[in-house]
Amino acid sequence: DWTMEEFIGKEIARIREICGDTCGGVDSTVAAKLMHEAIGNRFHAIMVDNGVLRLDEARQVNEMLNKDLGVNLTVVDASDLFLSRLDGVEDPEQKRKIIGNTFINVFEAEAAKLEAAEADKGKIDWLLQGTLYPDVIESISFKGPSATIKTHHNDMKLKLIEPLRELFKDEVRALGRLLSIPASLVQRHPFPGPGLAIRILGPVTRAQVQLLQRADAIYLEEIRAAGLYQQISQAFAVLLPVRAVGVMGDQRTYEQVIALRAVQSEDFMTADWFVFPTDVLRRISSRITNEIAGVNRVTYDVTSKPPGTVEWL
Ligand code: XMP
Repeated sequence: DWTMEEFIGKEIARIREICGDTCGGVDSTVAAKLMHEAIGNRFHAIMVDNGVLRLDEARQVNEMLNKDLGVNLTVVDASDLFLSRLDGVEDPEQKRKIIGNTFINVFEAEAAKLEAAEADKGKIDWLLQGTLYPDVIESISFKGPSATIKTHHNDMKLKLIEPLRELFKDEVRALGRLLSIPASLVQRHPFPGPGLAIRILGPVTRAQVQLLQRADAIYLEEIRAAGLYQQISQAFAVLLPVRAVGVMGDQRTYEQVIALRAVQSEDFMTADWFVFPTDVLRRISSRITNEIAGVNRVTYDVTSKPPGTVEWL
């Protein structure tokens, strides 16, 4: 004798969960908060620091999920492992593959640790994914790089729970607001799973990552200060694999080049480059070249999609 209500309650109660490689993004945060509301601390989120996140990202996400949202989150710092596997790799698809596979390795090891530590609660059966409706369409219609990343978790022998699979992005944002997720997070620009590795056009080293993190942080700080963040769909800095000649004092310099990207887009299938007020670009350029040793030139990308893509790799 059972009712459907009890069945739902019992099924949900079995779920002890984990969220994926873009943990800290809007979708996985909303999905995680939903799970937390449903089953509290029987839900576990794992965030893998892959060494190619934005400046201070791991710490900020940890603080927000743990402290502000009360979600049970473990952050695993696997940056050494990721960066050693990326050593010398330039091909973008190779970078994506390495990051995807390493993510699965780290994630599975961490899930096994969690399971062992809480053996009294039984096995982990379910995997939470923040898949949206457009992802559902995408992953059955073509196998592009992002679809491959997004479906990676299916390699594990866990049943999938996808609470957002009927929703579009703006609906997820509305749901996030309803769940009291801070506006700063709900409005956040998307960030790709392979992170800064696909925004460093040459080989990925810790020094290059740190340089790009700082340029990217200055860029976004100035965008926010100018009140433009909400008008832009996605903005980021790219580190080009060339050097340019410059001058500092009476010295000739020969240093790296940063490209800035900002686009407006409904669905990221097409995108327009964003028209900045001149003074904002001027400030960003002078801050990046003044504050970051090793960079003597900043360029702005004025290419729409198509023919360009949003990312450079
Ligand atoms: P493109 O460069 O294809 O980007 O015009 C469209 C959107 O997809 C994001 N993107 C990715 N997201 N893994 C991800 O999770 C990836 O490998 C990947 N490549 C591109 C990109 O940031 C933009 O929002």
